[in-house]
Amino acid sequence: MFNIILFGPPGSGKGTQSERLISKYGLKHLSTGDILRSEIAGQTQLGLEAKSFMDKGQLVPDEVVIGMISSALENNPKANGFLFDGFPRTQAQSEALDKLLQLKRTEIGVVLALEVSEEELVKRLLNRGLTSGRSDDNSEEIIRARIIEYHNKTSAVAGYYRQFNKVVSITGEGTVDEIFESLCSEIDKRMN
Ligand code: AP5
Ligand code: MG
Repeated sequence: MFNIILFGPPGSGKGTQSERLISKYGLKHLSTGDILRSEIAGQTQLGLEAKSFMDKGQLVPDEVVIGMISSALENNPKANGFLFDGFPRTQAQSEALDKLLQLKRTEIGVVLALEVSEEELVKRLLNRGLTSGRSDDNSEEIIRARIIEYHNKTSAVAGYYRQFNKVVSITGEGTVDEIFESLCSEIDKRMN
């Protein structure tokens, strides 16, 4: 089993690259953002609670997303490995994930950290906001709030995994193909 965290700020390309990585490596994609948006679409209690945070560009409380990931791991007992996208986003989430994986007698193989300048992030998300229908993409103020939340709470996740030598930084600017090649080359070095 090989488990990957695809890490990076909002708009860095986690979702785009995840699609390609799961098909190449046969991993199960776990995106907390996608799961939360499907809860909102289904108008569940969890979705209603999460929406108020997401619309402001703030993180949803740890216990909510940790519970979601815990269920997703339980519901996929036969997975070859997981690709975590947008999770963990706080140190508490990182520690909880490590414990959940230990219970499955596995661990994180690598944290691939996409690096993209702030101006490029804002440009990409404003552009996607023209068509995505995502309520957190349609104003520059909310996009900037998401980036601030990333700096204040999420960037520490890389520090947490750095102590275990698991973090590799990847340039997240360039073509989607070029970035995919860089990601695959780091995975291939570690997968065997
Ligand atoms: P989430 O859904 O995770 O969103 P995000 O992290 O803000 O990032 P995005 O999905 O917007 O960007 P991405 O990195 O996936 O980039 P993408 O490939 O789409 O989270 C949303 C919200 O949910 C959070 O704000 C929070 O409220 C809540 N949440 C989720 N997880 C949580 C957690 N663990 N804890 C607490 N709260 C949580 O690309 C972006 C755009 O750029 C696209 O248009 C794409 O086509 C384009 N693009 C991609 N690659 C390139 C390239 N190389 N060159 C040019 N354009 C590119
Ligand atoms: Mg995404």
